[in-house]
Amino acid sequence: MNEPSAIRFFHVWDTYARVVGGNYMFHQELGVAIRTALNDHFRKRPFSLLDLGCGDAATLAPVLQDFSVKHYRGADLSEAALAVARHNLSELGCPAELHHTDMCDELAALTTPVDVIYSSYALHHLPLLGKAAFFRAAAQKLAPDGVMLLIDVVREEDQPLDVYHNAYTGWLRASMTALAASEHDAICEHIVHNDFPEPWSVLEALATAAGLRMVSVTTPQTWHRLMVFVRA
Ligand SMILES: C[S@@+](CC[C@H](N)C(=O)[O-])C[C@H]1O[C@@H](n2cnc3c(N)ncnc32)[C@H](O)[C@@H]1O
Repeated sequence: MNEPSAIRFFHVWDTYARVVGGNYMFHQELGVAIRTALNDHFRKRPFSLLDLGCGDAATLAPVLQDFSVKHYRGADLSEAALAVARHNLSELGCPAELHHTDMCDELAALTTPVDVIYSSYALHHLPLLGKAAFFRAAAQKLAPDGVMLLIDVVREEDQPLDVYHNAYTGWLRASMTALAASEHDAICEHIVHNDFPEPWSVLEALATAAGLRMVSVTTPQTWHRLMVFVRA
């Protein structure tokens, strides 16, 4: 499968790993919130999990080690990221399948309902119609008592996309201080051409239309958010 330009950036996986390592996208706080959501929902009950846009699974794999995971299935468009994910998931102690495919195709291919649908910082790459299709497919494939954990960047209400891009890239250059200027440039270039976050009201409307209901939200910083959904 060819990897679209939107994804090519993530071949520079060490730059993204430095963003995550510096906690610049709040993976630590969001990891704590994921752990709490999984605890609240499943306690010790085993669950299956689908990770859409799994990347290298570096943040999720250690969280999952504290739970009883029946089956992990991840999908991503980047083969480079999947190779690292294979290594990061090796300690999980359950079957782990990784698929080099589009997240919506992965959802469509699912033949049995899944207990947890997880997606972190991937949905904003899809156009609006793709996001709507994602919510519809997720609602169909989620087990009746399952939970969807969606981490993503969310634009402020009434903030035009170009204003968001300017604000986010300005913030990034000022706050991601451990990164070189050339790394800032590469990330900003990627964001301006490939990131299409929606305001919360749009995500909520798509989720509601698909038959999902949000039960909690964690917002460690204005644009970075975990949204927890169940079937309505
Ligand atoms: C910012 S990284 C997030 C990786 C990881 N989930 C995390 O939170 O650190 C976005 C990931 O989504 C993947 N991605 C983007 N669009 C995708 C699509 N349509 N289908 C599958 N994966 C996609 C990229 O290849 C990349 O690995």
